[in-house]
Amino acid sequence: MSRTLKSTPLSLSSPSFSSPFSLKTYAAPHSTLSFKPQKSKAAHTNICNKSPLYSTKRFTSPQNMLDNTSSSSSTRQNRWNLHGRTALVTGGTRGIGRAIVEELVGFGARVHTCCRNGSELDKCLEDWNDVCSGGMISGSVCDVSVGAQRQELMETVSSIFGGKLNILVNNVGTNIRKPMVEFTPEEFSTLMTTNFESAFHISQLAYPLLKASGEGSVVFTSSVSGFVSLKSMSVHGVTKGAINQLTKNLACEWAKDNIRSNAVAPWYIKTSMVEQVLSNKSYLEEVYDRTPLRRLGEATEVSALVAFLCLPASSYITGQIICIDGGMSVNGFFPSHG
Ligand SMILES: NC(=O)c1ccc[n+]([C@@H]2O[C@H](COP(=O)([O-])OP(=O)(O)OC[C@H]3O[C@@H](n4cnc5c(N)ncnc54)[C@H](OP(=O)(O)O)[C@@H]3O)[C@@H](O)[C@H]2O)c1
Repeated sequence: MSRTLKSTPLSLSSPSFSSPFSLKTYAAPHSTLSFKPQKSKAAHTNICNKSPLYSTKRFTSPQNMLDNTSSSSSTRQNRWNLHGRTALVTGGTRGIGRAIVEELVGFGARVHTCCRNGSELDKCLEDWNDVCSGGMISGSVCDVSVGAQRQELMETVSSIFGGKLNILVNNVGTNIRKPMVEFTPEEFSTLMTTNFESAFHISQLAYPLLKASGEGSVVFTSSVSGFVSLKSMSVHGVTKGAINQLTKNLACEWAKDNIRSNAVAPWYIKTSMVEQVLSNKSYLEEVYDRTPLRRLGEATEVSALVAFLCLPASSYITGQIICIDGGMSVNGFFPSHG
């Protein structure tokens, strides 16, 4: 059963945890962010005043006059804010999902999120309450791997956003690491329902709301495992590969309704999901060796890209799966030693 909590603006003190990455305790990167919804007009005006590069006049050229973009994205201010938009982000209480919630609210969107743990959700809503103005963030307890709960979640979303949704971020995902032959049917089913079926069904349920908004953006959280082979991640890779193809198909199928569909595909990002596997120091060294930028990613580095894909600034981008991986997926053979 999902329930809706009264939305309260939030404090960004997400749990600290012992980090294998730095061998010391750190707080999740977004925990230190302050993101009262931007008064983008004023901020924009300031920028414009400071730099002639941002002068509207400078860009009033014959080409600009021929500009065919929709009126909602035709000024810089409109391209880079989400005021008046509504969003659903699944799995928004930790890790990448939490960073996405905060990023979207920072751009002015109203966001609904969900997770399974009710007390963790309450804590997040309380925290967020301290830094947001009222009504910007709300949440439901919902296990997205259960069909009836997905249905109930979307009914809640429809009711609080008046039947219109601009942004859907299908973020929830999990992992079971083991060789393919060792998977039980139950484990296989857990990964398929949590990672793929949930995103497929929530997208289906969200379609009328996205269409009704007149300008929709769906973003999936995929993984580099959907592109390249990763140890003990055959089934995870299959679920993310399916997400990648769905991303492309929806881009074509829903373009007529002005709904875009894109995905982000991270490599290792510092979240609770990968804390345990990266606590193995020699494995972590191998990860660094394989990653041209020689570090792990931050949740905010993913959320920034997701926000961009939701902004009118990316209005001509659809059907793309963008790796956010420190160069890992393009590293054919480039040994770090010699
Ligand atoms: N971290 C990485 O290195 C990495 C790399 C590639 C791809 N990804 C992808 O990024 C996404 C987010 O990963 P993350 O690392 O941020 O994970 P995380 O730190 O484990 O956070 C997962 C979030 O989703 C919620 N959640 C999990 N299962 C759920 C379910 N069945 N129903 C509803 N909510 C659920 C969790 O809350 P509850 O537990 O309370 O439900 C939590 O809010 C996933 O799709 C993952 O595959 C992550």
